[in-house]
Amino acid sequence: MQLETKLIHAGVEPDPSTGAIMTPIYQTSTYVQAAPGDHKGYEYARTQNPTRDALQNALAAIEEGSFGLCFSSGMAATDAVLKLLSPGDEVIAANDMYGGTYRIFTKVYEKYGIRFHFVPMEDAQSIVPYINAHTKLIWTETPTNPMMTITDIEAVSAIAKAHDILLCVDNTFASPYLQNPLRWGADLVVHSATKYLGGHSDVVHGCIIGNDPALHEKLKFIQNSCGAVPGPQDCFLVLRGIKTLHLRMQRHSENGRQVAHFLRSHPKVDKVYWCGFEDSQGYLVARKQMRDFGGMISFTLKDDRMEAAAKVLSGTKLFSLAESLGGVESLIGHPASMTHASIPREERMKTGLVDSLIRLSVGVENADDLIADLGQAIG
Ligand SMILES: Cc1ncc(COP(=O)(O)O)c(C=O)c1O
Repeated sequence: MQLETKLIHAGVEPDPSTGAIMTPIYQTSTYVQAAPGDHKGYEYARTQNPTRDALQNALAAIEEGSFGLCFSSGMAATDAVLKLLSPGDEVIAANDMYGGTYRIFTKVYEKYGIRFHFVPMEDAQSIVPYINAHTKLIWTETPTNPMMTITDIEAVSAIAKAHDILLCVDNTFASPYLQNPLRWGADLVVHSATKYLGGHSDVVHGCIIGNDPALHEKLKFIQNSCGAVPGPQDCFLVLRGIKTLHLRMQRHSENGRQVAHFLRSHPKVDKVYWCGFEDSQGYLVARKQMRDFGGMISFTLKDDRMEAAAKVLSGTKLFSLAESLGGVESLIGHPASMTHASIPREERMKTGLVDSLIRLSVGVENADDLIADLGQAIG
């Protein structure tokens, strides 16, 4: 079955009691048993919920995995993967990533005795010097947030497999429509489903997808034991969002292409970070592992004073100034003070995340309107 068909049908069966074509929102905390242990597969809603099951099955199918597990946010999904580790373990992570992921690594898990090494993951070989007997996990995003750096998943996975290390890819920026990391050798994929999977800026949600039954058991145990599960209504919203993922991603990518080229040709714009430029850092790898290049773009102005960036950030009318990304509406953001404020400045500067960097989540509106909006704000 092709992805577009899976996005509509995978995981979802007509409701057995009514035939409802959409899986109902099973808003219940518990399930009646005829006698102790005599139940229909559902005992308590932290452990199982039919709406969540439908979404978990759909996510597994569209990410080419054998299991999907849902969480109350992208960070809760990341947290569950980290709980696979033990004190003394080491993690090698990309040096450009969502600020909240950096924060949970350094501010939450370091104090439990886990060590993190940050490397420029776009060079797969940069991992090698940090590998030792304690290395248990490699973590990357691709494209990264916010510098749009591309990791060659296949190359990193070859190194990970040779040393028996888990590889987890945060696929939030690409979405399962643009990229399926398990196909390239990742062991686990995480998503902030708050973004493209949900797609409508109306839900906070996260998930993990993988193939290994042993990892499934361990992560399911963590999901149930720690309890960061999403409510059924949130699962329903993501399930509904998935049905149009292909249509939205095609339009995000098309609009992204037009906006990126407009910015690059603008006399006041300095650098534009978008993985679809043929001369961009990871273009060939992106072409290999992605179906298209998406709608996430970062840029700087030639006038690198913060006041100039601030004028653009508050000058757009269609692009709303807000955290988050991946919804149908276009957003503009300031990573240094918003999504990446928890990364120390000197660390940010190493990857090019300067104070005046502007990040765009290009929505699915009319591209000419979006370009006109940016044009008037840049001046
Ligand atoms: C790449 C990436 N991963 C994970 C997260 C965290 O997801 P959530 O906000 O759903 O917890 C975000 C949030 O912006 C993100 O951009």
